[in-house]
Amino acid sequence: MGAPTPDAHKPDMPAKQVTLTYYDGHSRTVYDTDVERAYPDGKLIVSRTDLNGVITHVNDAFVEISGYDIDELIGQQHYILRHPDMPKAAYTDLWQTAASGQKWHGYVKNLCKDGSHYWVYATVVPNIRRGETVGYTSVRRKPSRSKIDAAMTQYAQMKQNEEG
Ligand SMILES: Cc1cc2nc3c(=O)[nH]c(=O)nc-3n(C[C@H](O)[C@H](O)[C@H](O)COP(=O)(O)O)c2cc1C
Repeated sequence: MGAPTPDAHKPDMPAKQVTLTYYDGHSRTVYDTDVERAYPDGKLIVSRTDLNGVITHVNDAFVEISGYDIDELIGQQHYILRHPDMPKAAYTDLWQTAASGQKWHGYVKNLCKDGSHYWVYATVVPNIRRGETVGYTSVRRKPSRSKIDAAMTQYAQMKQNEEG
């Protein structure tokens, strides 16, 4: 496991304050300013994790859009980017698929350090060495606006079902 993920800093602009509780039981306060960051044209946003979802590698595009320094990302749980609008079921599906050795695709809304967000189309694959899964890689592409709109509707519905 990595070091506990620290609370986010309160942004200077108006923001919704939310306490997220993660799969491992850790709770953290985050802020959502509802400001969208544009996906960088022509770039892939890449990260790798160990078997527990701890970040082991990120590319420059990942660091830049996240707003974090690289040192704040390596060794942290990938949930440091979890946005409060994302339903838990999306990640359950990601983990079940990847842990069973398959490729997972999906639309993800990620939270930046300053409370803004960005949308990606992610492909998660297991990294296999000598027949054994040693970690996971996610390669993210720019999603179309129409797919983002569809994902927003679907995720809002899924979240409502989760919260009852
Ligand atoms: C390779 C890989 C990449 C991931 N990328 C993201 C990501 O970009 N954003 C995110 O919120 N979760 C990502 N996750 C899922 C997180 O590990 C985590 O499941 C998710 O943030 C929800 O947190 P929770 O499962 O603790 O509730 C990724 C997982 C793996 C294995």
